[in-house]
Amino acid sequence: MNFVTHLECANCGAHYPKDKPHQLCTSCQKPLWVKYDLAALKKNFTKKELIGRPPTIWRYLEMLPIEKPECIVSLVETITPILETKRLAAHFGVEHLFVKDESRLPTGSFKARGQALAISKAKEFGITKVAVPTAGNAGGAMAAYAARAGMEAWVFMPQDTPVINQKECWLAGAHTFLVNGLITDCGRIVGEGRKEKGWFDISTLKEPYRIEGKKTMGLELAEQFDWELPDVILYPTGGGTGLIGMWKAFAELEALGWLKSPKKPKMISCQSTGCAPIADAFAKGERFAKKFENAATVASGIRVPAAVGDFMIIDAVRESGGVALATPEADIPKWMKLANAQEGIALCPETAVCYGALEVLLKQGVIKPKDRILVFNTGAAQKYPEAVQEKLQHVDCTKPIEWGKI
Ligand SMILES: Cc1ncc(COP(=O)(O)O)c(C=O)c1O
Ligand SMILES: [Zn+2]
Repeated sequence: MNFVTHLECANCGAHYPKDKPHQLCTSCQKPLWVKYDLAALKKNFTKKELIGRPPTIWRYLEMLPIEKPECIVSLVETITPILETKRLAAHFGVEHLFVKDESRLPTGSFKARGQALAISKAKEFGITKVAVPTAGNAGGAMAAYAARAGMEAWVFMPQDTPVINQKECWLAGAHTFLVNGLITDCGRIVGEGRKEKGWFDISTLKEPYRIEGKKTMGLELAEQFDWELPDVILYPTGGGTGLIGMWKAFAELEALGWLKSPKKPKMISCQSTGCAPIADAFAKGERFAKKFENAATVASGIRVPAAVGDFMIIDAVRESGGVALATPEADIPKWMKLANAQEGIALCPETAVCYGALEVLLKQGVIKPKDRILVFNTGAAQKYPEAVQEKLQHVDCTKPIEWGKI
C-alpha cells in the first residue's frame, strides 16, 4: 500500500501529480518533495509491522513512494551497522561517539539508497535511459542500478574524479565520460542531453525520489537507537540529499508518533575549506548559497560548488539548531588516518571532515562531551587511493633482513 498524495515544490509550493515522472518544479526550477498522507499512514502502519521484516531499506516500504513493488530494483540495500567508537571518543574527550557505516552498501557508499529508489521509480514510469552528473559515487551507484534494471546509463564526471569511480561506472556498462570541469559543468551537459538524447535526469534533487531513498538513513538510525534520536549528527555535505532526507525522515516519524521524544538531533553540515558554499552561506545568515569558486578537495563527494537544494540544507540545519561549517582541507588525511587507525573502520575522506568539525564544535561548546554523537561514514575508504599519499617502505627479500630498520 502506498500513501503518497502528491509532489510539492520546496520553494513555491506548486503541486504535481504522483503518477508522472518529474524533474524540477516547472515554475521556479527548484526541487520537489514527495508528500504522504501521514494521518492515513499513522492508522495503517505501526512499529509492529517491522517485526520480522528483512534488514533492508525495504522494511519501511509504506513510508516509501513505491507504487509497483514488482518494479523494485535492488542489490540488497542492507541496514548499515552503527558502531560505537570508544577509542575515538577518548581522543575527543566525549562519552558516546558512534559511526553509521554506509560503506557496507552496494557500490560502497550511501548513494545506493538514493539510486535504488530513483531507478525503481524510473522503472515504474517505463523510463529506459538515465543520465547523471556525478562527483563519483552517485555515478557508480546509478550505473550499477541501471545495469540491474537493464537501462541505458550515461554518466558525466569531472576528469579528476577518483579512478575507481571512473572504472566502476564503465564496468557496470554505463556510457562514461570525463569532463574538463566540475560537477556543475557535468550537470549542464546532462540537462542539454535530456532534450538532445531523451535521457531522464537523475541529478541530485532534480528528480524527487533519490531523497526518499536517503530518508531511510533517518528511519534506520531511529529504529537502531530504539526511537530515541542521537543529540548530534555530523554529515559530510555536497548536494545535501543525505542531510535533507534524514530531516524529512525525522519529521515523518514524529507525525507518526514513533519517536520517544520530540527532541531532534542538531544537524551538522560538514564541508571542507576547499569547497564550502553551504558553510559560507550559513555563516552569512543567508538561505541561498553563492557558487563556490575554484572548488578543490580530495573529498571528491563533497566537491559540489553549487547545490540546487542549498536552501533545503540550510533550512534543515537551522531548524535543528545545528550549524554548517568547513574545516581545513589540509587536515583531511590526518583525520582520515586517525579514524581508520583508531577503529579499523574504512572511513572515507568526506567523513574525515566531520571529525575536524567535531573538534571545533566541542571547543565552541556547540557539542557537549555528554552528547550522543553520530558521524556518518558515507563511503568506503578503499575507493579513495588518491587521498592517501603516504609512501610505504620496501623490504628487499633477496638480502638478509635489516631488522634494525624494521
Ligand atoms: C562519500 C560521499 N559522502 C558525501 C557525499 C555528499 O552527499 P550529499 O549529496 O548527500 O550531500 C557524497 C556525494 O557524492 C559522497 O560520495
Ligand atoms: Zn516551484
